[in-house]
Amino acid sequence: MDTDIPDRLIDWFRQHGRDLPWRHSRDPYAILVAEVMLQQTQVDRVVPRYLAFLDAWPDVAALAATPTAEIIRFWSGLGYNRRAVNLQRAAQWVIAECGGAFPRDVASLRRLPGVGAYTAGAIACFAFEADVAFADTNIRRVLERQWLGGGAAGRDATIQQLAERVVPPGRGWWWNQAIMELGALVCTARAPACQRCPIAASCADYAQRRAAPPLIGLGGAPQRIAERRSTPFAGSRRYYRGRVLELLRAAPPGAPVAYAILAQQLAGAASAAPTDPDWLRQLVADLARDGLLVADDAGARLP
Ligand code: ADE
Repeated sequence: MDTDIPDRLIDWFRQHGRDLPWRHSRDPYAILVAEVMLQQTQVDRVVPRYLAFLDAWPDVAALAATPTAEIIRFWSGLGYNRRAVNLQRAAQWVIAECGGAFPRDVASLRRLPGVGAYTAGAIACFAFEADVAFADTNIRRVLERQWLGGGAAGRDATIQQLAERVVPPGRGWWWNQAIMELGALVCTARAPACQRCPIAASCADYAQRRAAPPLIGLGGAPQRIAERRSTPFAGSRRYYRGRVLELLRAAPPGAPVAYAILAQQLAGAASAAPTDPDWLRQLVADLARDGLLVADDAGARLP
């Protein structure tokens, strides 16, 4: 590859990268918290919640020992509540299986509950400064455009190999932060700001688009549409899961909420709420299986 791509990208990041709190940390626990929150929630919304979370549970032992209900209560408004349960399970795993010290390598990190290839790579890199490669949607898009071009969507294995090939030795932390930031701020899905891109000169996609500019009015080259975050919409299963947990959060700690009350409240929340008691029981059973609540004949409560 163009040998000065890392320099250009990292210099750009030093100048234009956002000052985000987790970038000051090398604590694997803090990095895990940040990455889990960032999985489905936007950076601006994560920053205050990340700081508040670390205030409430400053280390892995504190999180492991807390009642799960408190973490689920805290998670209100962040969505995808299962992340709260997985985060605590990961903390408990580190305490029980690793004597409280996070593993440092990607393979061991992947054994943590809820931690996949991306998060394991991010912890190894952002906490332990390992020169590892991993790709979220932003990194992936930059890699595809810069090295594959043609609006190509690389296969997972292709992207992983490419990502590994381009990490500059000794500078993995800076490289991965920088490439992620470029994808977030400049090399965006819909309207990349190539004029501001520090590596446009070597970009395969940019070169191809300049060689064959799309004809205005006749539609350009087919554009791959970026993945959209799904939003909870009234009536979806995810919507009702969220509603049930909101109702349990509002109940006094430890007190079960009866099924009849849950059904009544859900009916008030959406005019088309299903009224079948079996449907509600099944929804509650699924939430219980995910560790988000405890259910018995009296009703449901946070765990
Ligand atoms: N999104 C996911 N991880 C991130 C990080 N470390 N910095 C900024 N945005 C992110």
